[in-house]
Amino acid sequence: MAKKTVKFVCQNCGYVSPKWMGKCPQCNQWNQMVEEIETPKPKGYFLHTEPGSETKAAPITSIESKEEKRTKVEFEELNRVLGGGIVAGSLVLIGGDPGIGKSTLLLQVSAQLAEHDFHVLYISGEESAKQTKLRADRLKINAEHLYVLPETNLAYIQQAIDELKPNFVIIDSIQTIYHPDITSAPGSVSQVRESTSQLMRIAKTKGVAIFIVGHVTKEGSLAGPRVLEHMVDTVLYFEGERHNSYRILRAVKNRFGSTNEIAILEMKEMGLEEVKNPSEIFLEERTKGASGSTVVASIEGTRPVLVEIQALLAPTFFNMPRRMATGIDQGRVTLIMAVLEKRAGLLIQNQDAYLKVAGGLKVDEPAIDLAIAVSVASSFRDQPTKAEDCIIGEVGLTGEVRRVTRIEQRVQEAAKLGFKRAIIPKNNLGGWTPPGEIEVIGAASVQEALQFALGE
Ligand code: TYD
Ligand code: MG
Repeated sequence: MAKKTVKFVCQNCGYVSPKWMGKCPQCNQWNQMVEEIETPKPKGYFLHTEPGSETKAAPITSIESKEEKRTKVEFEELNRVLGGGIVAGSLVLIGGDPGIGKSTLLLQVSAQLAEHDFHVLYISGEESAKQTKLRADRLKINAEHLYVLPETNLAYIQQAIDELKPNFVIIDSIQTIYHPDITSAPGSVSQVRESTSQLMRIAKTKGVAIFIVGHVTKEGSLAGPRVLEHMVDTVLYFEGERHNSYRILRAVKNRFGSTNEIAILEMKEMGLEEVKNPSEIFLEERTKGASGSTVVASIEGTRPVLVEIQALLAPTFFNMPRRMATGIDQGRVTLIMAVLEKRAGLLIQNQDAYLKVAGGLKVDEPAIDLAIAVSVASSFRDQPTKAEDCIIGEVGLTGEVRRVTRIEQRVQEAAKLGFKRAIIPKNNLGGWTPPGEIEVIGAASVQEALQFALGE
């Protein structure tokens, strides 16, 4: 075995020291030094070259562009988020709050793969084989090629992979896995990082796709301040409110696809199910024509999704009015309220404002601005909105309504869901044909949009 050297690296500034220190002498931060082990790498180690071969620069025209080999699972939603299926030899990280459904999702995906004669190895570091079996029974999973191994030692995990030669490996979760060469506790930065880089090596050299589960800490970061995200090929976050059955799988990094895609799933008694018509479910419980409620066509990844934006304004009893937003960026809300105050003459300074995207979805794109503005104004004036309106547009600081991307797709989705009218940016009119059954009107300013949406 090659000789190892131990060193300590500051997580904050990268200062390297041969011994551990409480305080980093370079950046003066406390508790940032973590152990790092270096094993001299054999020659020809680099992943993309054959051992012993020399890399030479080649003209880009002479490089073969091969499509990655992908395997599709039954969840079309997951295939789409991954960029068209699971890429052979890729390392995928699935992060999320404890209890959100990561193990459930991966067990279901494992079974779907195993039923198609792929060999899947499910490493359970948190639950015993029996517990995993119980969960599988509940999910009505019983696939012969799905192997379960309750193990946390990476050396044994590697051994199992060598013996079983699976096509897919699930590591549930990375926080429980330890590299026997490292002394720090499982879940620590250096453990998580070393284990992940070892798994990366296994994935690339053997061509197995590995899924890693990572619990998110209270602060919302994956253990090991983002170190994991840099190392893996794909990072997916599994989100949702615990009291809501809808779950959203979002790609935040993807070397093999787009990062804007989301998958919508629903947690049911018998595990997760795909949601194929998200607009319908997000509007299901809408009270039509209530004040403070508008519908916007937002683009999530490659597809439009209709969501309801609710606002509630009430006179404040404090010096500082409260502004709360769920599912929308609070800064965006504050900005739009200031525009309404200044440009549309709404005296809302002394109002508490609560905003919410119904259904637990998070939307963050400028095209939702106008719907926020109309919801706020509607609640403030206690004037109901029109149930058959869909409102789309970005709002600028001078109160102008600005052009948004992919207007045609948004209006089409609204028409499909039975909306009779779309209020859109004036600059988005022309150059495309709206579907026949929906009236499209253009607004140049917020005031104009308010007149259309709330006027007689
Ligand atoms: P789990 O997959 O264990 O979460 P994680 O691995 O992210 O910590 O999900 C656990 C939750 O999901 C638990 O609260 C029960 C619920 N659940 C269902 O509602 N239906 C099911 O079929 C299963 C297996 C779990
Ligand atoms: Mg779990």
